[in-house]
Amino acid sequence: MTVQIDHALEEIRRFRPSPEFAAQAVADERLYEAAAADRLGFWADQARELLQWEKPFTRTLDWSNPPFAKWFDDGELNVAVNCLDRHVAAGNGDRVALHWEGEPGDSRDITYAELTDEVKRAANVLEGLGVGEGDRVAIYLPMIPEAVVSMLAVARIGAVHSVVFGGFSADSLASRIDDAEASLVITADGGYRKGKVFPLKPVVDEALGKTEKGTVQNVLVVRRGENEIAWDDARDQWWHETVSAAQAEHTARGFGAEHPLFILYTSGTTGKPKGILHTSGGYLTQAAFTHKNVFDLHPETDVYWCTADVGWVTGHSYVVYGPLANGATQVLYEGTPDTPHPGRWWEIVEKYKVSILYTAPTAIRSFMKLGRRIPQEFNLRSLRLLGSVGEPINPEAWIWYRHVIGGGSIPVVDTWWQTETGAIMISALPGVTDLKPGSAQVPIPGISIDILSDDGTPVEGEGGGLLVVTEPWPSMLRGIWGDPERFKETYWEKFGDKYFAGDGARRDEDGDIWLLGRVDDVMNVSGHRLSTAEIESSLVAHPWTAEAAVVGASDETTGQAVVAFVILKASQAEQVTDVAEAADELRRHVAAQIGAIARPRQVFIVNELPKTRSGKIMRRLLRDLAEGREVGDTTTLADTSIMQVISAQVR
Ligand code: WT7
Repeated sequence: MTVQIDHALEEIRRFRPSPEFAAQAVADERLYEAAAADRLGFWADQARELLQWEKPFTRTLDWSNPPFAKWFDDGELNVAVNCLDRHVAAGNGDRVALHWEGEPGDSRDITYAELTDEVKRAANVLEGLGVGEGDRVAIYLPMIPEAVVSMLAVARIGAVHSVVFGGFSADSLASRIDDAEASLVITADGGYRKGKVFPLKPVVDEALGKTEKGTVQNVLVVRRGENEIAWDDARDQWWHETVSAAQAEHTARGFGAEHPLFILYTSGTTGKPKGILHTSGGYLTQAAFTHKNVFDLHPETDVYWCTADVGWVTGHSYVVYGPLANGATQVLYEGTPDTPHPGRWWEIVEKYKVSILYTAPTAIRSFMKLGRRIPQEFNLRSLRLLGSVGEPINPEAWIWYRHVIGGGSIPVVDTWWQTETGAIMISALPGVTDLKPGSAQVPIPGISIDILSDDGTPVEGEGGGLLVVTEPWPSMLRGIWGDPERFKETYWEKFGDKYFAGDGARRDEDGDIWLLGRVDDVMNVSGHRLSTAEIESSLVAHPWTAEAAVVGASDETTGQAVVAFVILKASQAEQVTDVAEAADELRRHVAAQIGAIARPRQVFIVNELPKTRSGKIMRRLLRDLAEGREVGDTTTLADTSIMQVISAQVR
């Protein structure tokens, strides 16, 4: 594995925080000093300060059995109480927790007191359905308040949620349900997307027909889309009939800090998604700490909006757990940015006077394409901080975001982290750190990052290599569900006791870190992680396919796009007369098998794939083709003339 450092040195610009911003900033230079002086003491202080413990912890970190970390492990807390009840008890029950905006334009404001009641009712229903401590609950919902309520109700009773993004297919849902052996699924009839209702309950029905383990006892269904659905009286229950009728009294108890909170599946380098496991006390500490300090949260006055879906880790840490632990007021939006008109997001910012906006570079770039006239029709002056996550934000998009959306002078923070890290790891602290467009910049206080060359030697000063986390951190993954070996192999085998993130990175002359993308066979499409192997095995599962190779080709809007090269079976070649139609059929097939986000941008039907003498596909050469570049060094190919044949078929 080698890293290419072809990152063109952008003109490095730096932005000092404005004196007005710095004067009111939540973060403070002293956070860095405290963490540097006593890293574990710093995190222990944060955990005590930010959270309410039912039983205080006395041990901060147990790293006696790496890579299995335990944080605050003799302490006890209830995650839902930290996100809800304690804010009500502190007299903030009337504060709006969620300004929910449905895609068709319906909306609901939900206060902390109301949200707490609803979560207590839902917790009673879950317990009534026999869900208990440690049981897994799959959640397959649109971006409606019930998604937040479900996650917190599961957490409240010490069960474990596995949220599956509503865009995933029945197959993907079935394999996740089986892997976690979920006993309950919470879903909706349907949700709104691009002006239409997309069905969810029918997908759950199909998935349950496909599960092999048959662990699911009940399905709890929120009515949202009002689309027609099938009903199984023995298994299905309406949310509005059970939860609304349930008692709003529910006494929560504390669970150990290392009690599992959720499993979230993400793509790896093999065909099988990994169930990333997060636990309670350390996760919530770092989610709350970063949400407060990276987004400069003033909970009494700010209106925060993170546009991520709860189906991704960003939705877990920065829609549900971080903001609610901090008592923030936030916007939750169900739909797509351009429905019913391309200014929809900016209309929402204006309507709720959003002050902090957290989104992905892919969204920013698609707004750039539409032009500044659209956001300029709205009053965006409430915005005072912007955040970015999911992939590197190119300096041009950073500047556009700051100028056109942010009015020219507000901070933009680029936050690097992963499903596995649970919370932000690298980011400027607004008001403290000078900002540099294009760079994620510096580890947050209490996090130790390094860049290593392939053989494990640290890169001193300026230079590029592989990004690692050198010390355990509170919100780190605790494992891969049911697969401790894969956990060790994937993240810890390469550099021993250092966590290998899978990203390439470069340190510049100021010590700022620039992320260079994945160094493994993982793609990043619109800030979402996709596995080349998973899409390849989906393609090969199609009866027409003999062989397939998938690459992530750079794409102006989505960062990377899925491009597939497929060899058809000789037996099929005669039946498939129209190549374009075959390519379309394969694209549809992948979308149906995995989900629409995995649908290849292009499928090229070819007769050969470039392979080394040992039979390994050289994806690098296919990437050259997909990106329209001159094909690179072919000397290690078994047949060096093969690329000419393939290029001719791709044109
Ligand atoms: C991968 C993690 C973290 C939530 C969303 C994605 C890439 C993420 C950045 C950033 C450059 C980034 C990395 C990472 N990534 N944020 N600010 N700059 N790259 O979570 O699906 O777990 O993907 O996203 O490649 O490894 P994920």
